Amino acid sequence: MNVLVTGGSGYIGSHTCIQLLAAGFNPIIVDNLCNSKKAVLKRIKQVSGSTPTFIQADVRDKAALVAALSEHNIEAVIHFAGLKAVGESVEKPLEYYDNNVNGTLVLVDAMREAGVKRLIFSSSATVYGDPASVPITEDFPTSATNPYGRSKLMVEECLTDFQKANSDWSITLLRYFNPVGSHPSGELGEDPQGIPNNLMPFVAQVAVGRREFVSVFGNDYPTKDGTGVRDYIHVMDLADGHIAALQKVGPKPGLHIYNLGTGNGHSVLEMIAAFEKAAHRPIPFKFVDRRPGDIAECWADPSKAQTELGWRASHTLDAMVNDSWRWQSTNPQGYSDQ
Ligand code: NAD
Ligand code: UFG
Repeated sequence: MNVLVTGGSGYIGSHTCIQLLAAGFNPIIVDNLCNSKKAVLKRIKQVSGSTPTFIQADVRDKAALVAALSEHNIEAVIHFAGLKAVGESVEKPLEYYDNNVNGTLVLVDAMREAGVKRLIFSSSATVYGDPASVPITEDFPTSATNPYGRSKLMVEECLTDFQKANSDWSITLLRYFNPVGSHPSGELGEDPQGIPNNLMPFVAQVAVGRREFVSVFGNDYPTKDGTGVRDYIHVMDLADGHIAALQKVGPKPGLHIYNLGTGNGHSVLEMIAAFEKAAHRPIPFKFVDRRPGDIAECWADPSKAQTELGWRASHTLDAMVNDSWRWQSTNPQGYSDQ
């Protein structure tokens, strides 16, 4: 079965392509390379033995999408393409709404024209805003505090309305918690451009000597050790969640919503300690002020995905940090080979 993967050369998309190939699917990537490099394709080949078809195009280019969907006999689309930096979204809201919201609308319109009716969308735990309690189930109220989060929420709402009006479509919203880790081969991983916004790529760059210390954003949260608590999930588990969704609910018309998380919360200090153990070296850190907009704690109740998709995260925290370190230590500058 041919699957169009928008944003397939990015962090989560590239790992999902590997798992798609392993499960017998044929991924066709559409990416404009605004936040990834073509070198990823060589790495996918190294790991899986196959190079996915790559189309360099923007998801806002409807003609290119209709052509890709029709020429490759696509049966389902996994839509990763989008911008994802919270801070940048505050500076450049128009770019975020255009890429994330308009990009999705153009994609769905192209799918409609090409007669493709199965879509899996990359949503985020950010749609839960500041949750009243943890763990978070899919029926918690949604809200947003920044343009990135609002773009995810808007897309969820647009897709919900669209599915209501087109009941023969299968639309799946996957709400990711905090993806970390890398392919166990060390060939693929997260390669943020510039200063990493997220904790784990920052920690990895400190470990490898690219940065001096980790700034820990706040140590006065009402959590186990005062630092923020999140549900970190191995990117390979996350990738497998897409395969499970494609197989289990892809063929079923309806709107399907799942949390993809482990159900466990780890603090910033626990993550730093785990990484120190994996890298066999101290990771210097300093406590600084809280980051505006951050919440104290957030972790998933992943039982709906377990019951309905037969999926559950299996990688341990040690696997997340060991794999992350293997990637970072063997590729200190990321995908430097263009
Ligand atoms: P990423 O930046 O590594 O991958 C996104 C890919 O999309 C990149 O290769 C980029 O070049 C491409 N892209 C962006 N805009 C495009 C456009 N207009 N047309 C074509 N290609 C475009 O990000 P990721 O971490 O792999 O995230 C994938 C998806 O998952 C995103 O939608 C993101 O919002 C969502 N998500 C990520 C996280 C996270 O922490 N990484 C958490 C929750 C949700
Ligand atoms: N943190 C630090 N120092 C850093 C970076 C982060 O102490 O340099 C802390 C944060 O305060 C938070 C935790 O580490 O307590 C995790 O922060 P991240 O930036 O890695 O992740 P967030 O939970 O803030 O957000 C991420 C993605 C969002 C997504 C959300 C839920 O960036 O896009 O997970 O999926 F919406």
